[in-house]
Amino acid sequence: MAEIKSPDESLSLKVENDGGSLYYSLFKNGIEIIERSKLGIITDIYEFSDGITITKKKERRKHHTWDQVWGEQKTLIDHHNELELLTRSEKDQLSAILRFRLFDDGLGFRYEIPSQTNNQEYRIVDELTEFNMTEDSPSWWIPAYAYRRYEFLYANSLISEISRDTYSKLVENLNPPRLGPEAVQTPFTMQRSDGIAISIHEANLTNYSSMTLKASGTKNLECDLVPWSDGTKVYVNGDLTTPWRTVIVGNNAAKLVESTLTLNLNEPNVLKNTDWIQPGKYIGLWWEMIGTNESTWGSGPHHGAKTERVLNYIDFGSKYGFDGVLIEGWNTGWDENWCCTGDGGAFGFSNPHPDFDSKKVYDYAKQKGIRIVGHHETGTQIENYESQLESAFAFCQQNGIRVVKTGYVNDGSQNIKRIDEDGVMRREWHHGQYMVNHFRKVLETAAKYEVSIVVHEPIKDTGLRRTFPNMISREGAKGQEFNGFMSSKDNNKPNHATILPFTRLLSSPMDYTPGIFNLVDYRYYSPDDKRINPNHQIPSTISKELALYVVIYAPVQMAADLPQNYEGHPAFQFILDVPTDWEKTIVINGEIGKFITTARKDINSEDWFIGSITNETGRKIEIPLSFLDNNKIYKATIYKDPLDGGWKNKPEEIVIEQSEFSNKDVYMMDLRPGGGQAIHLTPIKS
Ligand code: NOJ
Ligand code: CA
Repeated sequence: MAEIKSPDESLSLKVENDGGSLYYSLFKNGIEIIERSKLGIITDIYEFSDGITITKKKERRKHHTWDQVWGEQKTLIDHHNELELLTRSEKDQLSAILRFRLFDDGLGFRYEIPSQTNNQEYRIVDELTEFNMTEDSPSWWIPAYAYRRYEFLYANSLISEISRDTYSKLVENLNPPRLGPEAVQTPFTMQRSDGIAISIHEANLTNYSSMTLKASGTKNLECDLVPWSDGTKVYVNGDLTTPWRTVIVGNNAAKLVESTLTLNLNEPNVLKNTDWIQPGKYIGLWWEMIGTNESTWGSGPHHGAKTERVLNYIDFGSKYGFDGVLIEGWNTGWDENWCCTGDGGAFGFSNPHPDFDSKKVYDYAKQKGIRIVGHHETGTQIENYESQLESAFAFCQQNGIRVVKTGYVNDGSQNIKRIDEDGVMRREWHHGQYMVNHFRKVLETAAKYEVSIVVHEPIKDTGLRRTFPNMISREGAKGQEFNGFMSSKDNNKPNHATILPFTRLLSSPMDYTPGIFNLVDYRYYSPDDKRINPNHQIPSTISKELALYVVIYAPVQMAADLPQNYEGHPAFQFILDVPTDWEKTIVINGEIGKFITTARKDINSEDWFIGSITNETGRKIEIPLSFLDNNKIYKATIYKDPLDGGWKNKPEEIVIEQSEFSNKDVYMMDLRPGGGQAIHLTPIKS
């Protein structure tokens, strides 16, 4: 048996060899939280599962700091104890390594298997890794193998209750065909009755397929790798190093959010020069399609991306110092049947639409000191996109575009077309090895042309932004767009954003696109029928929209509403002031699905920003300001809902107050139902 402890000794890990099979268990504060769980990999040429002997054990301690190019905190501490187990299975003549790293905020482990005889290609048939929880706890999850990728509201059920039937009962009906096993996506978060919060995820997903967690009607979960269309889980060529399987652990839910484990388990930055990677804020010609429904992506009288209209956006963005203007519908391909089957026509990624005078637009943006944010909707025509990758990103570089939003709309997860070596058309899953490798290819090509990418309909992040800091943001959850186009009955509920920080956001920044001010009566029936459709209301308040800029971390944040809804509005000042790159982040309090308060310190000044949001229930919470600098007095600008306000009542009213605080103060925050508060603190005297 082998055992290690985390540096502060709050976590301990045991690994045992029972009759030739390996198992691990994990303890927090002396309490077993994961009980005996199997480790192993089955392939078509060897089985790393039984008949294993441990030939050597090595232990290492590591403690060092490293700086992020951008992030929710500048400096990270990587402090962990490592256990390396060298193993031998005589039957298959296999030498394999199991590497465990135990941090104070969780566990990571992976399999390392050297290349096989003659470097032959082989297939992983199953990864056996188990996560047998000791308690059947409440959990927050979205289904895997479902048609809308990660874009689902979260279900909250016991681990043993996870199933598509449960999801259909609690959240939305998951229609047939129900392909694949009963499984959930990661990060998958649970909270025990003693308050300990746990989230299972993975780090550094490279040339492998995504891990989902298979449910069994018990409290036990098992790794389930998203297969290729031929059933193979992973094709291996040469040495195999799996992604890290991670278990983030905190004494409470807020602690999960502060975890740095995923980033610490990724490889250091490989980009030599990163000056071109710049955090910032952007506006866009976007909400008028997806939200207000007055314009179209494709040709016609309501086409949004017409030169004059785009120039107006540039004027507005430049007047207020935004870094970018996203323009969607600027290129060719939107007029074909591009959505949502993966069968549409081909998009051109350096072919401007005739309505869009690209030279004029790019020159004007340059003159106005603002950059165009490019847009590559692929419609999941992967081969079409890959055939244009070099020219598409070269086009960006030539035209001063440094950030591109990519998109992979396709309803039906196993619906990505691939022509195999025999010329046969296959349909692949969104999260399998094929797409993992596609997303990497895009990221690397973009880096070559000094472009950062914001991926919509992405695969989940596993901390790759450390290695490729041009992986600047992604969607990968239900974002604001669902409030835009879905009716009040089916849009995101007020609790959605109070679940995200403890689940999806554990993996990476998110392009949620906050900042909608026109929350009621904002949407037309259609671009041709400009009557207001009363069936739409965004389930939020203006104060909550502001708070989201602090709660949801993203190095590039959008101000998503139309310019005319910002012009002259006093709450717009907060959007202009809030930074997107931080020195420090503290999660002051939070309960999954109920509320969260986050404080962040600007990297370029002494200012602090606080964002707090609640679900449909109003609540009073104490905010100790002890994190502020000693000996300083801060001027606070507080943006809050009126006392009788909230998401149903007066959502578009906002109260803006000034106050003064020091680090001795405790601020009593009164959150209205479905609302939030945003606070900007600036030191005025020391
Ligand atoms: C879905 C994306 O999430 C959205 O932002 C985009 O506008 C549409 N696809 C069209 O590309
Ligand atoms: Ca989307």
